[in-house]
Amino acid sequence: MVWTSRPVNQITGTLRAPGDKSCSHRALILSGLATGTSEISGLLEGDDVLNTGRVMAALGASVERIGEERWRVEGVGARGLQSPSVDLDFGNSGTGSRLMLGVVAGYPVTARFIGDASLSGRPMGRVLDPLSEMGVTYDASAGKTLPLLLTGRADLQAISYQPPHASAQVKSCLLFAGLNADGRTEITESRITRDHSERMLRGFGADVNSRRDGAANTVSIQGGQSLFAQETTVPGDPSSAAFLAAAAMISPRGGVLVEGLMSNETRDGFYRAAAMMGAPVGAEDVGTAAGERLIDMSFESADLNGAEIPIDLVPSMIDEFPILAVIAAFATGTTVVKGASELRVKESDRIKAIVAMLQVNGVRIEETEDGFIIEGGGGAVPGGGLVETHHDHRIAMSALIMGTAAQAPVSIDDATMIATSYPDFMTHVTALGADISNTAQ
Ligand code: S3P
Repeated sequence: MVWTSRPVNQITGTLRAPGDKSCSHRALILSGLATGTSEISGLLEGDDVLNTGRVMAALGASVERIGEERWRVEGVGARGLQSPSVDLDFGNSGTGSRLMLGVVAGYPVTARFIGDASLSGRPMGRVLDPLSEMGVTYDASAGKTLPLLLTGRADLQAISYQPPHASAQVKSCLLFAGLNADGRTEITESRITRDHSERMLRGFGADVNSRRDGAANTVSIQGGQSLFAQETTVPGDPSSAAFLAAAAMISPRGGVLVEGLMSNETRDGFYRAAAMMGAPVGAEDVGTAAGERLIDMSFESADLNGAEIPIDLVPSMIDEFPILAVIAAFATGTTVVKGASELRVKESDRIKAIVAMLQVNGVRIEETEDGFIIEGGGGAVPGGGLVETHHDHRIAMSALIMGTAAQAPVSIDDATMIATSYPDFMTHVTALGADISNTAQ
């Protein structure tokens, strides 16, 4: 079904950010592994996270919804995971599937991992290769993809590993496997990626060592540690809030306050890039949650200038390139993104999807091997296009935000997948003043 976003004069209001997707997955996983009964509040109830909850239940944890965004999880503790009687279905979620491959690896359990068409095309070799070095065996589809059958083992061996790609999913997968391995598992990443697994593992009682050396980061975990039940409040998601922030920046009259956002240098690249481009961004400390700092952030209309995005910012804004492309389309001058070839293996080939999204709306953009170059419209974006989302939630939300300030409406071919990461997106942006509706096609 086609959805259309029409230009509006203002985007204003105050909203609480939805729970962070990365932290929500991790809270369910660690609560499910711990000894005792954990409670989670502010859980993102998006499809990706709910699938992780169902998977933990299939492996023996008890996972129960006790209120709005509130969940109770009785962990498997010392008894460990049990072999599931059903396939483990991760839907659209690369994070859920890759993290859980690491979890299952450390138990003598056989499980079949499956997902939707998009997930079944995404590379799993990046986690299967190091996991096989640790002793795991698997039978995967061609090109090391899902569906795949994984057999974990109780005598997993610790390894030292340098992932070829900057990936928090790979790091987290190996940390979770390392929790049950013999010896100390060590991962050295050339650029630090999101560190929520490290923080949350510590919160659940594990000893995790982190060491920075310039841009590089080494983390290690000793096998055989136990986790203990916790109460976790999930902080607000800076990736979801980026859509609200962008809507305010490109609006003729924008003024948005987002409350309870996680502030973490491994996630704030979009906000730093937007500030470099001239967006006034306000931030006020309001406390902590799940080992993370919390802030309220304010955004307003801005005369943006194009910028060359520093390569060092790429890992900390890896999910925000579709919405960065939208603000760059409204900016004056050229925006250059390099060193972002990982975008080719996200929920879609995001470089191609971003290029097509802008071109069909009259914006000049050039595709490069590892990024793109945008000639901004100096405040004016023609719009009027129908964007192919390729079943990618972040392309869908970015295109709808572009429509709020373009000269003509912007449509997308499908909006159902937005529920994977931000089920309240339509309600939130409409509350801020967006005019979005479904139009039969
Ligand atoms: C995530 C890591 C990132 C990110 C994804 C969430 C995580 O993927 O794109 O949306 O929660 O660990 P990579 O690790 O592949 O970069």
